[in-house]
Amino acid sequence: MTSSTAADGRPRTALVTGATRGLGRATAARLVELGYEVLVAGRDPDELVATAAELGCGGVDLDVADPSSIARLVEHLEAEGVELDVLVNNAGVSLIEGPLRIDDADLAVEMATNLYGPWLLMRAFVPWMVDRGYGRVVNVSSEAGAFSDGPSLGTYGVSKAALNALTVTVAAEVPSGVDVLINAVCPCWVATDMGGPSAPRTIDEGAEGIITAATLPAGGPHGQFLKDGTPIPW
Ligand SMILES: NC(=O)c1ccc[n+]([C@@H]2O[C@H](COP(=O)([O-])OP(=O)(O)OC[C@H]3O[C@@H](n4cnc5c(N)ncnc54)[C@H](OP(=O)(O)O)[C@@H]3O)[C@@H](O)[C@H]2O)c1
Repeated sequence: MTSSTAADGRPRTALVTGATRGLGRATAARLVELGYEVLVAGRDPDELVATAAELGCGGVDLDVADPSSIARLVEHLEAEGVELDVLVNNAGVSLIEGPLRIDDADLAVEMATNLYGPWLLMRAFVPWMVDRGYGRVVNVSSEAGAFSDGPSLGTYGVSKAALNALTVTVAAEVPSGVDVLINAVCPCWVATDMGGPSAPRTIDEGAEGIITAATLPAGGPHGQFLKDGTPIPW
């Protein structure tokens, strides 16, 4: 049995949010290569269809900033009998604005995308994972959210610091001995649309630490902030 196969031999199912480009797309592509049944999630229907076709996987509509979209996804997966094994909360925006200058609309988008979306998705799926006795959750965070190094980058850093706090808090809800591992991951500075062309890491290099956390063996890190698979200070 590999990390991509359940005890009964079925391929494990992974949902990657914000998978139409950047780190999410690279993560989804790698999970497909590893043998996972991957669902790419995105909010642009054309991009979603194209991405799913290119990667050879399933696609699901999801705007993580819209609670009704999350509710529809949960209902859909429940109706289809999908057993979600891996959740990668990757979708994110970086509206780097000072906390006292950001306007209401941008503040709502930043927090809905980077914090509330992952929160609602974990609230929906972590109890299923605990009941079934297996799960991996990766919250794609940032060094900008680390108190040990900031937080920095204005409101973006605040949203990622809150995501880190959420990671610890949700991880603590998992009963001991249950093979559900929930971690935040820092991909470092990566040359995506968000990171820009000067970033030192390629997209595949940035995605590697996300893959490591998504495919952890039983007994691996839980409730940690991981960089390249190794816990770093919050
Ligand atoms: N790049 C870096 O240097 C870096 C460093 C640290 C952490 N991160 C984190 O890594 C994650 C991925 O970033 P990236 O660099 O790959 O960014 P990116 O290239 O800008 O891609 C972001 C992805 O998120 C999606 N997205 C944004 N808002 C969404 C929403 N409301 N619902 C669904 N999808 C949404 C985008 O879809 P659309 O095409 O529809 O907008 C896109 O697919 C983010 O959480 C980011 O904060 C990135």
